[in-house]
Amino acid sequence: MAISGKTRVCGVIGDPIEHSLSPIMHNTAFQSLNLDFIYLAFKVKSSSIGDAINGIRALNIRGLNVTMPHKKNVMRHLDRIDLSAQLIDSVNTILNKENLLFGFNTDGVGAVKALKENGVELKGRKILLLGAGGAARAIAYAVAKESDELAILNRTVKDAQTLSKLVEKAANKRISTGSLSHTDIESNLRDSDILINATTIGMKPRYDETVVPTKLLRQNLSVMDIIYNPLETKLVKDAKAAGAKVVSGVEMLIYQGAASFEIWTGKQAPVEVMRKAALTYLKKV
Ligand SMILES: NC(=O)c1ccc[n+]([C@@H]2O[C@H](COP(=O)([O-])OP(=O)(O)OC[C@H]3O[C@@H](n4cnc5c(N)ncnc54)[C@H](OP(=O)(O)O)[C@@H]3O)[C@@H](O)[C@H]2O)c1
Repeated sequence: MAISGKTRVCGVIGDPIEHSLSPIMHNTAFQSLNLDFIYLAFKVKSSSIGDAINGIRALNIRGLNVTMPHKKNVMRHLDRIDLSAQLIDSVNTILNKENLLFGFNTDGVGAVKALKENGVELKGRKILLLGAGGAARAIAYAVAKESDELAILNRTVKDAQTLSKLVEKAANKRISTGSLSHTDIESNLRDSDILINATTIGMKPRYDETVVPTKLLRQNLSVMDIIYNPLETKLVKDAKAAGAKVVSGVEMLIYQGAASFEIWTGKQAPVEVMRKAALTYLKKV
């Protein structure tokens, strides 16, 4: 597609940003719908976040994704923040609407959509969530609303407890918490239907690590590891070997990206095209 004076600019800010999958995914999606949009990656240091956000207004950029380490710090530079992003204290999508900057977080909807579109029903189910960082916070809010029960385990138990109190209030549900010890995982996993790993354990370069002992995985369990690099974490391999249903982290990545795409363009995202682009890229790297 030819770039012209009318081309709308979107992008992602983060540091590091060189290995982001988002430019491939979004540019392929724009091209497939013949939209006059382009998506670029901008390396932005923490000390320059205010200047970068002013640049959105000055350059009339349509929208940005926000990734580590700016998801929280970017918030004070925006004009309006969506309620769910306020609750989790994290923004991953910015929309520039007539020079007003709106902040959203699409990680939670992305995770729920990834589960549902892959045949994992949440209603009436118990979910065990590992982690209490940025992504886990978004997921906790989104899944608590839809499921019956939720347990949150984290290395830093205090963070799991803080998160559970916030989510209990918002979703009006009782949430149990604990550590990532073998005992806590075993006792919580026993009556859970869905396991979600939102810790960084198993992420490149720690390919061989998992916090879930293999013998605890079983057939009537659905497992989503939100890590997508590597494409198959140790947890995913173990879950497959145990006959569990597996949802890849790429699915969440695609659906959170699709939600951002829809915010910027007002068009339904071409999910299949985005999936193909993301998987082709990940298999190469
Ligand atoms: N698929 C997607 O669309 C998607 C979207 C966002 C993020 N992600 C992935 O999700 C993962 C988490 O991202 P994030 O933004 O939530 O990161 P984050 O805010 O830094 O949170 C990291 C989490 O991992 C835990 N953790 C880190 N090192 C640990 C260790 N050695 N042992 C036990 N727990 C450990 C942390 O526990 P403490 O609280 O104890 O430090 C915390 O719960 C990353 O791999 C990221 O790539 C995927």
